[in-house]
Order: sequence, then C-alpha cells, then structure tokens
Amino acid sequence: MNTKQHYSVLLRESVDALVTDPGGIYVDGTFGRGGHSREILRSLDQGGRLLAFDKDPQAVEEGERLAAEDARFTIIHGSFASFSSVKQSLLELGRDGEGLCGVLLDLGVSSPQLDEAERGFSFLQDGPLDMRMNNSAGQTAADWINSAEEDEIVFVLREYGEERFARRMARAVIKERQLQEFSTTSRFAQVISEANPRWEKGKHPATRAFQAVRIFINRELEDLTLALDEALSTIKSGGRLVVISFHSLEDRIVKRFFREQTRGKQFPAGMPITDDMLDKKMRTLGKAIKASDHELQENIRSRSAVMRVAEKI
Ligand SMILES: C[S@@+](CC[C@H](N)C(=O)[O-])C[C@H]1O[C@@H](n2cnc3c(N)ncnc32)[C@H](O)[C@@H]1O
Repeated sequence: MNTKQHYSVLLRESVDALVTDPGGIYVDGTFGRGGHSREILRSLDQGGRLLAFDKDPQAVEEGERLAAEDARFTIIHGSFASFSSVKQSLLELGRDGEGLCGVLLDLGVSSPQLDEAERGFSFLQDGPLDMRMNNSAGQTAADWINSAEEDEIVFVLREYGEERFARRMARAVIKERQLQEFSTTSRFAQVISEANPRWEKGKHPATRAFQAVRIFINRELEDLTLALDEALSTIKSGGRLVVISFHSLEDRIVKRFFREQTRGKQFPAGMPITDDMLDKKMRTLGKAIKASDHELQENIRSRSAVMRVAEKI
C-alpha cells in the first residue's frame, strides 16, 4: 500500500449498512481521501446525493476534485458536528423536507495525516509538533504544551490517553519547557518516553500521550457527542447511523448513545409503562463489527476498528 493513500476500513460492511435507498441523501462526516464516499456514490442512483465533511484542508482539496467529477457530491470544510451546513445544503438542493437516509462517521486520523511528518501526529517521525486536523486554524499541540498548567496537562493525559503516569509526564514536560520550548514531535516523544516507567508491550511509550494531545487539540470527543445528536435529529425514520471507532473512548460514547436511544426514557421501577411512553428513537442493527482476517492482513490499522450501526425508528 502506498502510505500516502488511505486504506478505507470496513469499506464494504459500512456502505452496505448505510445505504438503504439509492435515491436518498447521505452524509460522510469524515471524507479523508474519499474511499467511503466513492463507494457510497457507487451505490447511489442519479437522484442520490452525498454531502461530506472534513476538517483537513488536504482532504477537502481531494473532495473538491471528486465534486468536479460527480455532481451528486458536495464537500464541506468543517467539523461534522456543524450540521447547520447540512441543513443549508439540503435547502439549496430543494430537498430540505426530506431528511437524511444515513450518516457515516469513520473517526480519527487518516493514514496521510499520520504518515506525513510535517502534520506532527507521529511519534515515529520528526516533524513540527502540530497535530491539528485543520492545520489552517487554531492552537497547535506545541502552543498548548508550551503554555498549559501542570493540572491541565495531567487532565488531558489521563482523560484522553488513560495514561497512568500523567503526573510524572506533566512535570517532566514543564521542567523541559523551562529550558527550551517544545517545537518538534521527536523531543516531545523523548521527554514523555523518559518520564514513562512502564508501557504496554509492543507499543511506543509515548503512544497514549500522543493520542491524548491529538484528541484534545481537535476536540474529537466533543465533536463526536454533538454529531451523534445532530445526526439523529436530521436522519429520517428508517435512516442509518454508522460509526467506526478506533479506541475505547470513542466507542464508549457511541455505545452509550445507542443504548440511551434504543432504551428510551427511564421511569421509576414498578410504574406501568407503555411502549409509546418510552419514546425509543433508534434500534441497533446487529452487534459491533470488527475487521475480517483478510482485511487485517491488508491493513494492520484496522485492528482496532469497531463499527456500530443503528436505525432511526
Ligand atoms: C479515518 S479518516 C477517514 C477516511 C475516509 N473514510 C476514507 O475512506 O478515506 C478520518 C478523517 O476524518 C477527519 N475528521 C476527524 N474528525 C473530524 C471532525 N470532527 N470533523 C470533520 N472531519 C473530521 C480527519 O481529518 C480525517 O481526514
């Protein structure tokens, strides 16, 4: 595989689960290099429409190329949490009364983001300590690491990296930045690694810290939480929500959301309740799906992928 390309995880499984009506309107919240989007377009007829988001300007450039080739496709530069752009696009298409047939979220970073050292996501390659998916705006990882309070660093490493040695790492970072501000991934990885007494076999000692800072800088969990609510309110009855997560923090949010929507409202025990009163919004379709052995052989990054699917009632 060319590492500048992105291998689309659970491609067939996710598109099959998503597309129920070839003439419907769909959202791909995470365009990346368009693997899922192209497959969705292949499943649609001439009446079908696909709106895609990406925060990353390079992904959006690729999306603009696809939009020039296929009039059924629109790319939006922004967060998938901003569903106001979807509503606006539906209005422009004259299909605002219709509701979406499905929303796909293939979370996390793309292979090009990880593989290009200058994006600053990787502890394996030296580059500027950036980590922004949208590298045209906002605070870089370096800006934050050079100015955050110790407790804030501890919070981020614990909350978004589930890092046991967050306090030691935060202290080491603060000590080092007094000597010289952080500007590169390699120095950050080195300081974190030196402060880490124990880590999982086969992993880099800075894996959790890099994941934590990336999630924080890109507001990944906040965006996901917002997007699930927005998607539910914009999908029509029978429409699907398909989410591919790559770590337990994301999957926990998706699992909890699906559980709440499929269970409906909670009432005190013993109260006589009808199904109507529960006001269930969704039903889950099947269990969580993981990549096949064949896919794992082709792409080791699909190892941690978990796909969940729910349908609006
Ligand atoms: C795993 S990749 C998606 C790959 C894509 N499905 C494909 O087949 O090429 C995730 C992409 O989603 C983008 N992304 C992540 N969170 C986002 C958000 N909240 N809003 C918009 N784009 C986001 C990233 O910039 C990245 O390009």
